[in-house]
Amino acid sequence: MSDLFPNYARLPLEFQKGSGTKIFDKENVEYLDLTSGIGVTNLGYNHPELVKVLHDQVEKIWHIPNLYESELQEKVAKLLAIEQDYLAFFCNSGAEANEAAIKLARKATGKEKIFSFKQSFHGRTFGAMSATGQAKIHQGFAPLLPTFDYLTYNSFDDLLKIDESVAAVMVEVIQGEGGVLPAEKEWLQMLAKVAKDNGALLIIDEVQTGIGRTGTFYAWCDYGISPDIFTLAKGLGNGVPVGAMLGKKELGEVFSQGSHGTTFGGNRLALSVAEKVIELVNQEEFLTEVQEKSTLAFDVLQKGLAKNKHVKAIRGKGLMIGIALDSSDTLQKALQKLRERHVLALSAGNDVLRLLPPLTIANEELQSGLAAIIQVLEEIENE
Ligand SMILES: Cc1ncc(COP(=O)(O)O)c(C=O)c1O
Repeated sequence: MSDLFPNYARLPLEFQKGSGTKIFDKENVEYLDLTSGIGVTNLGYNHPELVKVLHDQVEKIWHIPNLYESELQEKVAKLLAIEQDYLAFFCNSGAEANEAAIKLARKATGKEKIFSFKQSFHGRTFGAMSATGQAKIHQGFAPLLPTFDYLTYNSFDDLLKIDESVAAVMVEVIQGEGGVLPAEKEWLQMLAKVAKDNGALLIIDEVQTGIGRTGTFYAWCDYGISPDIFTLAKGLGNGVPVGAMLGKKELGEVFSQGSHGTTFGGNRLALSVAEKVIELVNQEEFLTEVQEKSTLAFDVLQKGLAKNKHVKAIRGKGLMIGIALDSSDTLQKALQKLRERHVLALSAGNDVLRLLPPLTIANEELQSGLAAIIQVLEEIENE
């Protein structure tokens, strides 16, 4: 009998250590991780340079409240702004970053209504949960924040609902938890334009897609748009909890002194690692290699699964890959069979097999993981 709340469906596996793309259970059995701990350990487990900066920082100082200046926060904020006019607020998770974004947008516009999208996922705190367009996430928590409404993702018609009463539109460039659904480029550009024309702020949730996951530093970089506000977490700390909300400089005064805050946000342990993560992702060739691995992965999957009757679509971008299957039953069987082969993959939505391998994965590891996926789906087809 566990002493923990039963809110997670935990698998009977316990991992003790990790190295690169491999993690090891209590018996030291090796697993190939194609999940990066749900898009977090994007540079692999125990990356030696990250281990070193964290060790070095542990010996200096861990926590200093936000009552004092922080050169480290300034540095990371500048790096995250990618030479555009953004200010940063540091926090501890994706949901907390989204809460900050919601508050900033509400206060900046003086308006209440925020549109997000069906099948979206923005986190579990009340604001972020209310932004999330999934009934199963809302169950038992009514009434939600009354100011959210959900548009249909990739629907041009629904963009007509955005009018001058809208404070903000909150969107993922690729819906992650909802089923690895990429936004169409023209649609996202139109969304940005309609929002702007109506004085609504564009909030992009980059919690899952940010920091190189889709082959560009932010997913929005490839869409010819620049959000008013965007949020980060997951890959930013490679496993050290950290989140960030960035907003255009002209929004700066809205978060006036005392208007928002958090005790742990921007702490030295998290930001020393975040600084190094950004440096590594910005290294020459790093993102090009992610794009090359992505091409390899999509090629292998498209060829290997072309005839599989359980596979409905293969979609995504960079190393955020979804294999849409015909049922949740097929998905659960495939995940189980992969685990038996010591390969870890994820679900998204009801029936999508999701892959978020470390961006540092070697081609051979990627190929062996993909071969396992193709084999188990073949096995299921032959059952
Ligand atoms: C797009 C997106 N936004 C927000 C969140 C919530 O992040 P956290 O769990 O760190 O609060 C997630 C988590 O999966 C996410 O994928």
